[in-house]
Amino acid sequence: MTKPTALDSLEQVAGNGLLHRRLFLQGGAAALAGATLLTARAAPPDVPASMKTPGAPMRGYGERSPHEAQVQRVVNTTPGTTGTGGSRTPLESLEGIITPSSLHFERHHSGVPDIDPAQHQVLIHGLVERPLIFSMDALARYPLVSRIHFLECSGNSAGNNNAEAPQQTAGGIHGLVSCSDWTGVPLSVLLDEAGVKPEGKWLLAEGGDAASMSRSVPMAKAMDDAILALYQNGEKLRPEQGYPVRLFLPGYEGNMNVKWLRRIKVTAEPTMTKDETSKYSDLQPNGRAKLFTFPMDVKSVITSPSGMQKMQGPGLYQISGIAWSGFGRIRRVEVSADGGKSFAEAALDGPVLPQALTRFRMPWRWDGSSSLLMSRAVDETGAVQPTRAALMAARGAAFRYHYNAIQSWNVGAAGEVSNVYV
Ligand code: MTE
Ligand code: CO
Repeated sequence: MTKPTALDSLEQVAGNGLLHRRLFLQGGAAALAGATLLTARAAPPDVPASMKTPGAPMRGYGERSPHEAQVQRVVNTTPGTTGTGGSRTPLESLEGIITPSSLHFERHHSGVPDIDPAQHQVLIHGLVERPLIFSMDALARYPLVSRIHFLECSGNSAGNNNAEAPQQTAGGIHGLVSCSDWTGVPLSVLLDEAGVKPEGKWLLAEGGDAASMSRSVPMAKAMDDAILALYQNGEKLRPEQGYPVRLFLPGYEGNMNVKWLRRIKVTAEPTMTKDETSKYSDLQPNGRAKLFTFPMDVKSVITSPSGMQKMQGPGLYQISGIAWSGFGRIRRVEVSADGGKSFAEAALDGPVLPQALTRFRMPWRWDGSSSLLMSRAVDETGAVQPTRAALMAARGAAFRYHYNAIQSWNVGAAGEVSNVYV
């Protein structure tokens, strides 16, 4: 008889091998590492080549290891257009909650403009006492704030509307979401300086790209937590993310976060731009289009194991994933390994920030049988991520944007992971 280990005493908390999240909460992770498949071996006896010659010199701007070069965004440009399309974050290759800037998803309606910050200006006009023009140097002299927030395109996960479940990676399906530390000037400070007239209830934000992408934003949001972001993860914005300045609206649909921002016009009503009427509205079952869905709904996805991956035989695994809500903090994430028959609460990595990605983990003893994994997020307003069937029933077959249903991954007996609808 083999001696019982700490692992044998681990409490099963839901069907098909889900174990208590305490394993991650109380330093129990050592049990996971020691008793599993994470086969740490003793150092090899040979002195490695890296110890025999000095390493490479320093460099002015860092690069990742060449061994990680295969981790790439999933790029989809729309043929026959002038640079419209998207590239998705490879969620399955990342951990933690911050998306490296070079892997932040992209969504451009007319390519990435090349903007000289010395020439670029932001105009605030319309229903204001004093129209103002800011150079980039002038903006940078205002008090800055830094906030960690996700950004999600409202077209994210739309492939899961298709009749057949798309067989792609987690990033290929859900990678139009990323999370960064954004630093910039609170928009309220600039609007106060311009002096918003009492009838100014909305604003129009216009981008300086060839699409002149423009959206209407309610004044309440602009005055609450909107920022004109100049920095992303500590360095100046990437050109793809709106260099030298973008509007950032925590939790709001990606499209409203106007990049390459050049103009804010205070208005009494929404402007009804092409970008908010022909797109980003949702056709409802009654045939009418719903305009203006601003905060993104509560959502989660298991990133490991996930689509197109292969599990390496039965044993103990950590399920890892991300959850987020445009309405605030994630309160809890529940995981199922038996297709939704039973759920148990996952461990959340702190800090759990409002309108930010939140990492969850769950220990799972996989017995090698075909298993259906799901995650279901609940946010601090009590909103619960819906099943796909419930979402489709509520929104009708024609909707395209704002898909937030539970993702189900099937782990086959051979360990292959696929996207399934249940
Ligand atoms: N702003 C401008 N000026 N032009 C654009 O094409 N795309 C929008 C929004 N802001 C866009 C824009 C869309 S649809 C999304 S989802 C986000 O920017 C994407 O931001 P990202 O490329 O930094 O991820
Ligand atoms: Co978008």
